[in-house]
Amino acid sequence: MNLLFVADVVGRPGRRAVEELLPRLRAEHDVAFCVVNGENAADGVGITPRLAEALLAAGADAITLGNHTWRRGEIAPYLAESTRVLRPANLAAGAPGRGVTVLSAADGTPVGVVNVLGSLFLEPARNMWEVVDELVDEARDEAHVVVVDAHAEATSEKVALARWLDGRVTAVIGTHTHVQTADARLLPGGTAAVTDAGMTGPHDSVIGVEADLAIRRMRTGMPVRFEVAQGGVRLEGALVSCDPATGRATAIELVRVDWP
Ligand SMILES: [Fe+2]
Repeated sequence: MNLLFVADVVGRPGRRAVEELLPRLRAEHDVAFCVVNGENAADGVGITPRLAEALLAAGADAITLGNHTWRRGEIAPYLAESTRVLRPANLAAGAPGRGVTVLSAADGTPVGVVNVLGSLFLEPARNMWEVVDELVDEARDEAHVVVVDAHAEATSEKVALARWLDGRVTAVIGTHTHVQTADARLLPGGTAAVTDAGMTGPHDSVIGVEADLAIRRMRTGMPVRFEVAQGGVRLEGALVSCDPATGRATAIELVRVDWP
């Protein structure tokens, strides 16, 4: 059984790449279940209900989010109702939405999805280590196949989480840095992992932002309004194969497809 994880979709270029490439990739790789990180879908920060629906219509089975979850206020009531769009589980306990879900893959296999937020620079209300075991248990009550989106700045947090969950989940996929790491691997217990799946969006940029704007803000320390860049668009992510009966991963490879 093949699972596709599509890395952080940035702005309109990223959304268009997903809309045009995802149906083809699903068919080409016989993908039974697809998770898309959509936390930068709306102009680079956050997501709206309309854009979430568009990503689902393009072939995402589940959407995960991250530190920009609340940038678009209109997503809050949508998250309160949705079973397919997750926000990190370790945001404030009183916030709307959920960080774990179990859905059906194309072949009927139940697939659990967990979304957590790392601590460095992102300062979640609760530490992911305090909640992640319970989330994984909840997903595993109903599914052998479980995918974890670890949205975090620090490579160490993502590597440590993959090691901690090895043998208990199918894949731990890192997101947030927008730079794809060359460490896709199978861990000894049967968990596939990659520290960061990359970015689906304009790579002729500073992690999705027009380079001159990002550089100006850094050089001057002045407020500069960021705009999503346009050039060098590609879809990035990871393709994981697993045994649906056990949830054990059998292969992981990085995905990097130019668009158009
Ligand atoms: Fe992020």
